[in-house]
Amino acid sequence: MTDSVGPGFRSLSTEYDDHQPQIEGSIPDWLAGTLIRNGPALFEAGSTRVNHWFDGLAMLRRYAFDDGEVRYSNRFLRSEAYADAQAGQLTGQFGTDTRGWRRIVDTLTSLGLPDPTDNANVHVARLDGAFVALTEAPRRIAFDPDTLATREEFTFTDDIPEHITAAHLVDDPHREEWVGFTTEFGLRPQYHIYRLPTGSRRRRRIASLDARGPAYIHDCSVTADHVLLVESPLVLSVLRALNPLSQGAVDMLDWQPDRGTRILVVDRETGDLVAEPTLPATFCFHHVNAYVDDSGAVDGGGDGEIVFDLIEFPNSEIVGAMSMGELDGDGFPEVPDGRLMRYRIDPASGSVDRSRRYDGGMELPRVPRASTGRRHRYAYGQATHRKGQNGLVKVDCEAGTAQEWWEPSVYVEEPIPVQRPGGEAEDDGVVLATALDVDREQTALVVFDAETLTVEARAWLPHPEPFGFHGRFFTDS
Ligand SMILES: [Fe+2]
Repeated sequence: MTDSVGPGFRSLSTEYDDHQPQIEGSIPDWLAGTLIRNGPALFEAGSTRVNHWFDGLAMLRRYAFDDGEVRYSNRFLRSEAYADAQAGQLTGQFGTDTRGWRRIVDTLTSLGLPDPTDNANVHVARLDGAFVALTEAPRRIAFDPDTLATREEFTFTDDIPEHITAAHLVDDPHREEWVGFTTEFGLRPQYHIYRLPTGSRRRRRIASLDARGPAYIHDCSVTADHVLLVESPLVLSVLRALNPLSQGAVDMLDWQPDRGTRILVVDRETGDLVAEPTLPATFCFHHVNAYVDDSGAVDGGGDGEIVFDLIEFPNSEIVGAMSMGELDGDGFPEVPDGRLMRYRIDPASGSVDRSRRYDGGMELPRVPRASTGRRHRYAYGQATHRKGQNGLVKVDCEAGTAQEWWEPSVYVEEPIPVQRPGGEAEDDGVVLATALDVDREQTALVVFDAETLTVEARAWLPHPEPFGFHGRFFTDS
C-alpha cells in the first residue's frame, strides 16, 4: 500500500521565521494582510502516536502579503500539551487519552469532560484585540500575530458555563460581533449561544437551550436576525465514556439516528427558539452561511424564509475515518463525501425544503467575510470526490452549478476568499489556499482568481505542511 498522503499526516519539526518563499506567477499588489492558519503538526510523543488526527499538536502558520510578496512563518503553539509531548507524554483529548481511570473518575465527578486540553489546534480569531488559537475544549491561547510566539492563556470575563465550546466563532462584520456557543453537561444539558462584541472579553448570552443528547456540534451560522445550530444525533454519551476501554472524547460519541437531526433557529435579539424542525438523521461539521430571503415575503419584512447552506454527511462515519489508524493507510478512507445542501426554512410553519447544490464531494466551505449572514451566491470549498487529490470548487449556490480546479497529487486545503478592496462583485478578488503536492512533498500557498479559479501565483513553502484545519485572513489596519 502506498502512503499517498504521507506528508499530510507526518510530524513537522522545522520552524521558519519570516521566510521568503519562491514564487511562481504574480501575487496581486492590492493583496495586503495576513492569513493565519491552525492545525496539527506533531503526532507523536516519544514513540506513542496520537490516535486521532484532531489530537495532533497545534502549529500556527502565517502567510503575510504585502506589495506582491509573501512571507512565511510556522511555529508550534507552546501549550502545556506541547510541553507534555516534548516530555514524552500525550495528553490529547479528542481520540487519545492515556490517563485511564483518572479520567473516568473525573468524568464521574463532573459529568463533563476530563481536564480540558490547551492544545488549541482548530482555528484562530482576533478577540478583544488579541490573536487567539481555539479548540473545542474551553481553553484558548493568545499568540503574537507577527512572530507567532505563544502568549498567555486567553480568558473570557463572563461566567457562561462550558464543558465543550465552539472553535468556529462566526465573525459578523455587519454587527461588529462574534457569535458562538458552548455545551454544558449535567442533569439538564444545555447549549448556550452568545455574542461577543468586538473589543470585549465578556460574552453576552443570547439563549440557553435544552440540549437533546447533548449532541456534538462543531459550527453555527447567523442571519441578520437568527443564529442556527444543527443538532445531529451524534450524541456525547457520558455513560459511554465510563467504559474503561474508551479513549477520549471520540469514544463518548454515539450515533443514534432514530433521534433525527434537529435544526435550532434562534432569534438573535430575543433568544427565542423560533423554529426547531426535526429531519431524518444527518451529520454536519461545517456550515456555509445563512441569510433571510425577503424577496418572496408578502410584506417585504423580516419574515421571509431562512436560506441555510451546509455540508452534510449521511452519518457520522467521517469522524472515525479521521483516526490516524485510518489515515495512515492509502490516502483518505472510503467514507461518504460531504454534500453541499441548501435548506429553506419557513420559520412561520417550520417547513423545510432541502436540495443538493453540488454533485461532487465538498468540505471546508467558506464565503467572503462580507457575505456573512447576508445573501451569498458563491461558496468555495475543498472538492473531495477524486482519488489521489483534493481540488478546489466554487459553487454557484443559486444556479446549482460549479467550477472546479484539480491537479494530480495536489491536495487543496480550506480555501479562503479575500475580496479586492472596493470590489463590488462577491467573486472580485482572490481565493487563498494551501495545497500539498504529495509527489513533490512540498506545500504551496496558492493564489487563485476568485472569479475563474485561474492560478495567479504559487508560493512554494520550504517543506510539506501537515494538513491543517482552519484559518482567517486579517487585513492590515
Ligand atoms: Fe471545523
